[in-house]
Amino acid sequence: MHKVIAMKTHSDKTRILFVCLGNICRSPSAEAIFKEYANRNQLDVEVDSAGTSAWHQGEKADHRMRQSALKRGYNITSLSRPFVRSDFELFDLIVAMDDQNFHDLTAKTLTSEEQGKIKRMSDFFIKSNFDHIPDPYYGGADGFNLVIDLLEDASLGLIDYLKKNK
Ligand code: 4NP
Repeated sequence: MHKVIAMKTHSDKTRILFVCLGNICRSPSAEAIFKEYANRNQLDVEVDSAGTSAWHQGEKADHRMRQSALKRGYNITSLSRPFVRSDFELFDLIVAMDDQNFHDLTAKTLTSEEQGKIKRMSDFFIKSNFDHIPDPYYGGADGFNLVIDLLEDASLGLIDYLKKNK
């Protein structure tokens, strides 16, 4: 008798795309933080991030964001890229950092299935009293640390969500 070997295929993974405006502050941080949490929880996921704009295409994440993240143990390595319509096909969950990102993504949908994939990062907060991840780009160091606090909280909530919805 042949032994059946269970193999994880590409399609078994949950594929998650984090999206903000520039893809140089919030969503690359979400990508790095959530990857770390998923690894710790041995969750089989594929994670990426993108911007609703192409303003910073090809750039490293903002140096202030990278530095704040590094101090908290997260190494942000991704390069900015714009969201493209094929991402609706490639990803199972598309997670917007704020309402503007949510609406900009919604404007690109053609089907209810695509719309159903779009969530807000704040949907996954466990203890935070915010309704979005605030844009830190024009502010000071506090804003970058707040982004990390909020993303850590939401990442825990997203891990719980994925475990429950397997
Ligand atoms: P992000 O932050 O959307 O979290 O990457 C921003 C980055 C750049 C700009 C705005 C927000 N910008 O105006 O260039």
